[in-house]
Amino acid sequence: MMFHIFLLCLLCTALGAPPTDDLRSPRDTTKCGYTSCHKTDPEKLNVHLVPHSHDDVGWKRTVDQYYFGNNEKDHMGIRGVEDIINSVVQSLNEDPNRRFIQVETAFFARWWETQTDEIKTMVKELVNNGQLEMVSGGWSMNDEAATNYQSIIDQMTPRVGWQIDPFGHTNAMATVLAELGFDGLFFWRLDYRDSEARQTDRRTEFVWRGNSDLGSKSDIFTSLLYENYNAPLYFCWDIQCGDEPIIDDKSSTEYNVKRKVDQFHKRIAAQAKNYQTNNILITMGGDFTYQAAEMYYVNIDRLIKGFQEFHPEINMIYSTPSCYLNAVRESAERNGITFPLETNDFMPYATSRHTYWTGYYSSRPNSKRFERQGNNLLQVAKHLVAFENAKNKSFEGDVIELKKIMGVMQHHDAITGTEKQHVTDDYVRMLTNAMQEAQKSIHTMIFDLLKYAVDDESVGATLNSCLLSNVTRCAESGEQRFTVAVYNPHGHTVSHFVRVPVVSTKYSVAGLHGGKIPFQISPVIDTFSKVPGTQSLYELTFKATDIPPLGVNYFYITKEDSTVNEPNLIEPSDKTVLGTESTGIEIDSTTGLLKSVTLNGVNQVVSQQFLYYQSSNASGGTRSSGAYVFRPSAGTEALIISDKTEFVTYQGEIFDEVHQKFNDWLKQSIRVYKNENYIEFDWIVGPLSYVNKLGIEVITRYITDLDNEATFYTDSNGRQLIKRVRNHRPTYEYTNEEPISGNYYPVTSRIVIKDKMKKIDMAILNDRSQGGSSLTDGQVELMIHRRLMNDDEFGVEEVLNEREYGEGVIVRGQHYLFSGFMSSLPDNVRLLTLESFAPNKLLLRLEHPFSKDDDEILGKPVIVDLKDLLTLYTIKSVSETTLGSNQLKSDNVRLQFPIKGNEKATGKELTKEEDETLKVTLNPMEIRTFILDVEARQLTRITGSANIHLPHTLLTLLFIAICVFH
Ligand SMILES: *[C@@H]1O[C@H](CO)[C@@H](O)[C@H](O)[C@H]1NC(C)=O
Ligand SMILES: *[C@@H]1O[C@H](CO)[C@@H](O)[C@H](O)[C@H]1NC(C)=O
Ligand SMILES: *[C@@H]1O[C@H](CO)[C@@H](O)[C@H](O)[C@H]1NC(C)=O
Ligand SMILES: [Zn+2]
Repeated sequence: MMFHIFLLCLLCTALGAPPTDDLRSPRDTTKCGYTSCHKTDPEKLNVHLVPHSHDDVGWKRTVDQYYFGNNEKDHMGIRGVEDIINSVVQSLNEDPNRRFIQVETAFFARWWETQTDEIKTMVKELVNNGQLEMVSGGWSMNDEAATNYQSIIDQMTPRVGWQIDPFGHTNAMATVLAELGFDGLFFWRLDYRDSEARQTDRRTEFVWRGNSDLGSKSDIFTSLLYENYNAPLYFCWDIQCGDEPIIDDKSSTEYNVKRKVDQFHKRIAAQAKNYQTNNILITMGGDFTYQAAEMYYVNIDRLIKGFQEFHPEINMIYSTPSCYLNAVRESAERNGITFPLETNDFMPYATSRHTYWTGYYSSRPNSKRFERQGNNLLQVAKHLVAFENAKNKSFEGDVIELKKIMGVMQHHDAITGTEKQHVTDDYVRMLTNAMQEAQKSIHTMIFDLLKYAVDDESVGATLNSCLLSNVTRCAESGEQRFTVAVYNPHGHTVSHFVRVPVVSTKYSVAGLHGGKIPFQISPVIDTFSKVPGTQSLYELTFKATDIPPLGVNYFYITKEDSTVNEPNLIEPSDKTVLGTESTGIEIDSTTGLLKSVTLNGVNQVVSQQFLYYQSSNASGGTRSSGAYVFRPSAGTEALIISDKTEFVTYQGEIFDEVHQKFNDWLKQSIRVYKNENYIEFDWIVGPLSYVNKLGIEVITRYITDLDNEATFYTDSNGRQLIKRVRNHRPTYEYTNEEPISGNYYPVTSRIVIKDKMKKIDMAILNDRSQGGSSLTDGQVELMIHRRLMNDDEFGVEEVLNEREYGEGVIVRGQHYLFSGFMSSLPDNVRLLTLESFAPNKLLLRLEHPFSKDDDEILGKPVIVDLKDLLTLYTIKSVSETTLGSNQLKSDNVRLQFPIKGNEKATGKELTKEEDETLKVTLNPMEIRTFILDVEARQLTRITGSANIHLPHTLLTLLFIAICVFH
């Protein structure tokens, strides 16, 4: 419900109107929208003052503490966001001239819920007359490095992007905003050299093409803020700033208007030089400003009057980002101004020669992983809610909290790991609660499906998703008999290896209809003895084969009598060549380290090392690594943790593996699944100890003899690959004072090197966001854990030193090595979202995950028949919408900005033919969003079909639940 409400207010129609299943038509241009902007003057310099408050959804204080304004000892003078919104709304109501932009919907939604009808009516009016503008519309201002685009889409609803604080910016973000139908994007925080060059050359505004496959459909007009997002120096009039007020009483000895106006004019003149049109935007605000809004507004009112008196050649107005955009577009059109086309991204972010913000790509690795699990659960919950909705049951309420907290988790001080520890704890608390709530309804629905499958209405059980199976804890799997339910959220049939911690060495596994399923029992590599709960000494692995798209399959696991039958436990082997002829690994028999890898029948030299960087020494007065920054000790290289391991190999029917122990705090299993085309690296690292009282930052490095010619590729928020060249930036002169951290990039899902001569690619896929690089040809490294000694002095004021059970935190994670990657991916349709939109309406997003550059065959357009995909429904009609699903594609008219070279954007609509046949075409990298009118059909029984294996299966987890029947 709430999501509908905010959708409406962004479109400037009646706020708070009852939710409706009709799609809204585009902006009501008669009242709000661009016509409500203050007039600009074509003959003058127009100065757009934009009042705003940057309200982090958690950072030094928790979300609740920021909202209510308690825990003040931490931050002198800062009160709550509740006070800010109350205060702003009153001040706007005082004077229709004034403007304000509201960014973080998480806070606004909370405020709105507690308001009286009178206040709500007043706020609706403020929105309608353009005084209060919602920008971005996201639940939070999302980070761009560590987030996955699926989560970005989920938390956004349209018009203008306002990404003023995230630490670097990505192509995928630009693309998502364009696809949402946004008119423009404003940002700050880009490399200091890039910023300087752009200001000097007047390239501060450009059309950013996020994706070359999508071409102009991914274009978004982008404007860089001038200095930062604060008000100009000496012009912050909030209670926390205490700047000199403007005194316009001419009879007073304190009268200062002329002096203040002249002071402000200097800033205007400097800024105007760097922008192409006769418009400039000046942010009037900052972190948690407008607690005493009237004080701020009264002074801005006087400043505007002062300019009218002393600088009539300048037209100074209250404005918003949208109004500014429109003015820029008009001015460009009138004066024949064109904007450069930009295709590169803005990663990594550096603020000075030795200060690269590349540490946060890896900070708080367990939170980054937990966020992925939350997204996985959310997507599955939405699918299941959609199924049940068609049967007229509502589970919507159980998912709403998870939607909200996932919006919060995307915030640039949440998934980034740049918040204080108590704030992390609070995020984890909220996410855990929301996941439990969502699981309740998932469980009910999984049962409904199971009852149908086994034709038994009397089935009752408890269900658990065993989120702690990474530390071998799962109470349910200790039972005599339990069932594993595997749900496939993908749009194609998949097979998946399921691993369950178990307590005995003797089991049997059966399918739904009684057939025996092969499985393997192996000893665990670690028992995580400090974690409470029953320790499992073994893991049971089986392959859940051929789970149909959006289907569930069930597996019955029974503990057998160990005195009667032979144990199934796998015995250690003396072999060092593991796997099969087509997929295998070779282990060095003296060191136990990896020597080579065979994939697709081709043997490659691949070794692996674990190493650590020592953070630089802050006591020497230099900037050290912190939650944001990665800065190894000057002139040092990564040090090898151990060049040999204690190791044991195991060979089984399903997989072979080696257990390696490097030392007390570093272990790894490398697994080769039979008949698969990848190698799994399952590492456990921690607790880390400081070395020489300096921070320690652990990496793993994969070393080949491939020649990647100083070039590697990292993904953009899980979407397209971006080319990176070592010691080089495409848009500015790169100086290499930090040869390690300056070459680090965010790796959200994969990092790839290619050898053009050998025609071989090697890709490492990861299970959470990490920082990574290729510092030497043939090598790829990823940072997997960090424990630091110092704060990096960018405001968090706390050392990144995560602790658990009285010691440093332990992290377990997986990397998947593919080689010949591109040609081994069989499927080119991805089901991105399926959720209930309204009664008998579904929201469906389909994605073509490949680029033309990925592969000749896979990078071709593909046709999807919606009938085949959604067998649970009869589809009555289909309409295509923008990515945010709140506007018909055909209604979305975006502002057009002229590009140098004169290219025009073209949109693509569902063709008449597509509509009739329910077949839709997806072009490379395209995401299309549809609203379907449906009628529920009988549930389909589980059926088998072709066995397809996708790396995406690894990226978007399947949902696996353990049920115990009673
Ligand atoms: C859904 O259920 C409610 C009450 O349970 C009923 O009033 C309504 O008519 C049903 N709607 C449909 C479309 O079946
Ligand atoms: C760090 O700097 C301090 C102060 O200069 C010095 O005493 C200490 O030995 C340094 N530590 C290392 C490991 O270099
Ligand atoms: C295991 O997973 C849980 C849930 O995501 C997480 O809280 C915990 O830190 C993880 N433990 C390790 C050792 O990775
Ligand atoms: Zn912020």
